[in-house]
Amino acid sequence: MMKMDRRLTRRSVLAGTGAAALTLASRPAIGLAIGPGGDAAPEFVEQLVARMNPEEKAGQLTLMASAIGGAAASALNPANRNNLDQQLAAARAGQITGNFNGAGSDWHRRLQQAAMQSRLKIPMVFAADVIHGFRTVFPVPLGEAASFEPALAERTARAAAAEAAAAGIAWTFAPMVDIARDARWGRGVEGAGEDVLVGRRFAAARVRGFQGAGLDRDDTVLACAKHFAAYGAGEAGLDYNSADISERTLRDVYFPPFRAAVDAGAGSVMASFNEISGIPATANRWLLTDVLRGEWGFSGLVVSDYTADEELVAHGFAADGREAARLAFLAGVDMSMQSGLYARYLPGLVAEGAVPMARLDEAVRRVLTMKVRLGLFAQPFGRLAPGREAQRVRSPANLALAREAGRRSIVMLKNEGGLLPLPRSGRRIALIGPFAAGLHDLIGPWNVYGDDQQAVDLATGLRRALADPALLNVTAGSDVEAPLPGGIAAAVEAARAADIVILAIGESARMSGEAQSRTEVTIPAPQQALAEAVAAVGKPVVVVLKNGRALALEGAVLDAPAILVSWFLGSETGPALADILLGAQGPSGRLPVSFPRESGQEPYHYDHKSTGRPDPPGPIQEYKAHYRTSPNEARFPFGHGLTYGVISYADLDLGPATLRPGGALAVAVRVTNSGSRAAEEVVQLYTHDRAASVTRPVRELKDFRKVALAPGESAIVRFTLRREDLLFVGQDGRLTVEPGLFDLWVGPSAAEGLAGSFALIA
Ligand code: NOJ
Repeated sequence: MMKMDRRLTRRSVLAGTGAAALTLASRPAIGLAIGPGGDAAPEFVEQLVARMNPEEKAGQLTLMASAIGGAAASALNPANRNNLDQQLAAARAGQITGNFNGAGSDWHRRLQQAAMQSRLKIPMVFAADVIHGFRTVFPVPLGEAASFEPALAERTARAAAAEAAAAGIAWTFAPMVDIARDARWGRGVEGAGEDVLVGRRFAAARVRGFQGAGLDRDDTVLACAKHFAAYGAGEAGLDYNSADISERTLRDVYFPPFRAAVDAGAGSVMASFNEISGIPATANRWLLTDVLRGEWGFSGLVVSDYTADEELVAHGFAADGREAARLAFLAGVDMSMQSGLYARYLPGLVAEGAVPMARLDEAVRRVLTMKVRLGLFAQPFGRLAPGREAQRVRSPANLALAREAGRRSIVMLKNEGGLLPLPRSGRRIALIGPFAAGLHDLIGPWNVYGDDQQAVDLATGLRRALADPALLNVTAGSDVEAPLPGGIAAAVEAARAADIVILAIGESARMSGEAQSRTEVTIPAPQQALAEAVAAVGKPVVVVLKNGRALALEGAVLDAPAILVSWFLGSETGPALADILLGAQGPSGRLPVSFPRESGQEPYHYDHKSTGRPDPPGPIQEYKAHYRTSPNEARFPFGHGLTYGVISYADLDLGPATLRPGGALAVAVRVTNSGSRAAEEVVQLYTHDRAASVTRPVRELKDFRKVALAPGESAIVRFTLRREDLLFVGQDGRLTVEPGLFDLWVGPSAAEGLAGSFALIA
């Protein structure tokens, strides 16, 4: 079979019969020796474009959901309108450029064979939402961001890309790099949280991981930075909602992770569903062309989100589908996902002169160049070697990486009295809650190819790790959003019979992700009732949260002596949690999103502005920026997370404390682990510009580093701060940095740290 594919490739492309094939055959270097920048592509692409008719061109700009979808594909997008025979026929007729979220290599091979029968034999590109793993599922991106280790995200993206590519997938709709400042929004789970610097570093790392050592290799996929832009800024945290937002905030906050992804070489960008101050992103020429291409020099492909061009009608921006296609296309959306509008209208729009042929050719050129860079012309079946998919997915190495990434994503919010880690033997443990056991809610939201049935739950993970698994007693106690008959009584009984309770509660996978905004970011009431009843028994309680967002914890959950935030950890959920609960490894994650005191504080982010009446610490004072009944600080701040060590910070040293033109500020601090267990501490550097021509946030993260400290070890951690780290968008809309005094903190979270100050000299 492999041989046949190769022969097909050679026959049709190198010695082939179609126009593209002839071109390649006459120039064998083209398509065979194309560098990562696609340097050999232009001539080949031009020749091909010259042979295409408008319908074939529009076909190259038309991407459809796969007629046979990956396991969860249909649950993740509205109804798929494609049927199998139609899709094969469309491939043969050159009417579609590719599909997405398809079922795997066999199906992809059939489609590619059909595309190879088309007049020009332009290969299809298979895309997918490979958001946090393929068949091996890694923690949700928000969880992985909690590791504060971009290098870890690069490794998991690399592994996910290799698995996906073995199924013929050459393009992932990831990374999602939207800043998420509102915990009500369900899609924060797909990104790196609320902070700009963390967002930038994870964006770049994930792009590097997906695209690997070269796009034409059989283990890489093209990255797609999405959703451009301000998708996370929708009013009231409601998915798809309008973002009324200043250009300054766009440039200071929402753009930088996209810029980082583009600078890291992301080959594509997806326009977002939302409107930005009245102009939908999908038809926003300023955004997609002036900023993205003009200012940032992006030369890759812009794809719409799912039917987002068609949705311009519902937005009230386009009168009908024809106008929607024209507006999106002229604004800069090269490829239309799922609506079919480009195939339907672009040829006519060009014929009537409403869309210039030059614009059509430009977009087609980008698609063909992408396919060249992906090695698809040279090897249409290069990612479709028979047997490779089964052999490459869920390898022991990838599962080990999932376990490592899982434990590094866990954040310990509290650990009073050193309750954790728990002993491996000698204590009776009651494991209670809807997420205690069962093959559900493990892989988490937005995963097309993972399977809960293949993941390991908490109870199994613990049983494997405990010296005497018989001492573990598992009780659900409650369903996720509804009580279980007799559940609480059984849970109370189990707690009474135990020495320690582990309470596994929180959100189901369906409670975050697309279209899953919540008005209250709390533990669902039946589980809160369970927690109250169990706590009343009086045994020490360790809360293990499952969550796709920041939560406002209260009552018995908040008061529990130990709390772990575990997000959705993926394939190796149970073992990763057991590693931390039983102390085989220590927790080292930090919150990438602030946990508010109450839902009503949302949108909440640590890097907020001061106001003219900042809320002072201590007792509530009148006429300050707080709520009637609550101070406006986080319950658990951004950056917070404990270790099994005892960490202290000392000796903050800023040298002469001046930052001169062309110079740098050397920052050093002594971090000590005086505990008896090893620890990994995330040391964070924040600054605040005291007075500027545009007000600046109360704190901004400028650098962070995770350092490993053995028991009793002390280390000097150094950072270098430069002027470019302090840039912001000035009154004239340009990046600027102004002389003056800055506060600086080095510490374990956005609410703590050793404080200093320095002067920036003109
Ligand atoms: C809609 C989502 O917004 C986007 O993130 C995803 O890539 C597409 N559907 C395709 O599944």
